[in-house]
Amino acid sequence: AYPPMEAREGWKISFKKLLNVLLFSVIFSSFLIISLCPFGSLEPDAVPRGGRSLTILLWTWPFGSSFNFTECSELLGVPGCHCHFTTNRSRFCRADAVILHHRDVCGDRERLARLPRLPTQPWIWLNMESPSHSSNLSAMDNLFNLTMSYRRDSDIFVPYGELQLLGQPQPVTIPHKSKLVAWVVSNWQEESHRVRYYQELRKHIPVDVYGKNHTPLAQDKLLATISQYTFYLAFENSQHQDYITEKLWRNALSSGTIPVVLGPPRDNYERFLPPDSFIHVDDFGSAQELARFLFELAWDAERYRGYFQWRRWFQPVLGTGWAWRLCRACHFLHTTEPRYRPVSHLAAWFM
Ligand SMILES: *[C@@H]1O[C@H](CO)[C@@H](O)[C@H](O)[C@H]1NC(C)=O
Ligand SMILES: *[C@@H]1O[C@H](CO)[C@@H](O)[C@H](O)[C@H]1NC(C)=O
Ligand SMILES: *[C@@H]1O[C@H](CO)[C@@H](O)[C@H](O)[C@H]1NC(C)=O
Ligand SMILES: *[C@@H]1O[C@H](CO)[C@@H](O)[C@H](O)[C@H]1NC(C)=O
Repeated sequence: AYPPMEAREGWKISFKKLLNVLLFSVIFSSFLIISLCPFGSLEPDAVPRGGRSLTILLWTWPFGSSFNFTECSELLGVPGCHCHFTTNRSRFCRADAVILHHRDVCGDRERLARLPRLPTQPWIWLNMESPSHSSNLSAMDNLFNLTMSYRRDSDIFVPYGELQLLGQPQPVTIPHKSKLVAWVVSNWQEESHRVRYYQELRKHIPVDVYGKNHTPLAQDKLLATISQYTFYLAFENSQHQDYITEKLWRNALSSGTIPVVLGPPRDNYERFLPPDSFIHVDDFGSAQELARFLFELAWDAERYRGYFQWRRWFQPVLGTGWAWRLCRACHFLHTTEPRYRPVSHLAAWFM
């Protein structure tokens, strides 16, 4: 009825073992906790690990134009978020990460694929253009480890702008309006959705068009000029998920007017903006109906003000500037545990 001696011995031995294992794991796990979180409870997404300066190689200046790098800890207001940026390729082997701008590398996949790369060095695909204006996307499959774009589901999300929650509600001030509808357009494509929509809209409401081949408008006069308008046509050059650019964030919102948007569907805009902060062309059956609505709204001061009420709590901030974007990458690399995966279907994802 008793267990044989051997079995009892075995049980004794494994009890000893178990004690050892327990003791070891208590010591080891506290060591782990201490070494991973040297300052107690860290918020993993906010505080840079260690504060070591990371070297980030920018493979080319985006579109070939240089700019000044900034100190990310200052720009982001995050102490310890230090990165040393360089475009000097002799740093390639020692760089903690490499950022490659799509337009400047998409013509030569072979050359990139041949580079001897460190297995631990993530390559970051950077692109702010929409799929319609990104050639050779499929040539970029299986080269990168992280994505960086205006798409919200990028590893490193770099939007053209975003809303910032104010600490205190602010009184709303609306710039004085003396004109009706403005549009600034530089890339005029006769067959594009936005130009065809404009051609229809102008039959029913006057639209002042600025930009190349239209009324010239200097950059430093842009916001002051647009702010006089009751509405601004924030028409994107192509329609893609999350592709909402400075046409909305700067031209329309920073100038203090109401954007009339043409881009992705309304529910996509509503992931970035309150529903009553913009007018969507899809809300109307035709350009004529939209025009009628704009006339009504322009004459209804109370209803017009309704489109500004969100500004009591939020302010639009611009995400433009390459230096700022690079700092978002710096922050990501500092704060996110490496979980790099080869981006195998970049084209399929981005399209
Ligand atoms: C970069 O900084 C230098 C010195 O502060 C300044 O003269 C130059 O205009 C800046 N360049 C750009 C592109 O902002
Ligand atoms: C690039 O880095 C190398 C090695 O660090 C250095 O010798 C070289 O002068 C640098 N080139 C430029 C243009 O700064
Ligand atoms: C696309 O890639 C091919 C082959 O690498 C290249 O010949 C072509 O110039 C590239 N197109 C663009 C627009 O870069
Ligand atoms: C990055 O992606 C490349 C190409 O897909 C792959 O060979 C490499 O192992 C990946 N590196 C990391 C750190 O995940």
